[in-house]
Amino acid sequence: MKIFLDTADLGEIRRAADAGLIDGITTNPSLVAKVAGKRDPKEIYLEICKAVNGPVSLEVVGLDLSTMLAEGRKLAAIHENAVVKVPLTEAGLKACKALVSEGHRVNVTLCFSVTQAHLAAKAGATYISPFVGRIDDIAGEGMGLIHQIRQVYDNYGFATEILAASIRHPVHVVEAMMMGADCCTIPPSVLWQLSKHPLTDKGLEAFLKDWEGLGAKI
Ligand code: G3P
Repeated sequence: MKIFLDTADLGEIRRAADAGLIDGITTNPSLVAKVAGKRDPKEIYLEICKAVNGPVSLEVVGLDLSTMLAEGRKLAAIHENAVVKVPLTEAGLKACKALVSEGHRVNVTLCFSVTQAHLAAKAGATYISPFVGRIDDIAGEGMGLIHQIRQVYDNYGFATEILAASIRHPVHVVEAMMMGADCCTIPPSVLWQLSKHPLTDKGLEAFLKDWEGLGAKI
């Protein structure tokens, strides 16, 4: 499964990219607002695109089709890694279809149902982003949606990649893999949690203690 980092924080992006652990980045307006201050978000987008070797989702903020198309084209022109992110609305689906026909890659976001995911695939989306955590937040079953979309896309041979989003903890990542999501976008804190295990720490401590008794160097 591809791992994307869900952040606009360049420090975190470089840390994960330098470790060779991520396949791309997803951003959204809220994540950019957290880090931008007075800076032009487009500058930040360019820096992010240069920092990773993979797709970087950059979201439009217009609500009507013509604004989405104009913004989408600008975002796509920032860098070859840019993927245009559009919301799953009627205008967003139309924008997806048009931008894909122009040769751009499109991530359709804010997906909360399998019928929405089906339409995004028909609109030629490169990625569909179902928001697992936000469904769990309202006592739904976020991972059930990933399962449904996987089945529908496989039944009809859609090439749209399932990008599990709104990931809150490592169990979400495990479940995304078990459900056959193509990609999972995760916050930096969750990425580093994935590497941790108390038995690793305990085992390492014991190995080093035993080695210390030898008084030797490698
Ligand atoms: O990037 C979209 C998505 O991952 C947002 O997650 O935690 O705000 O629901 P969250």
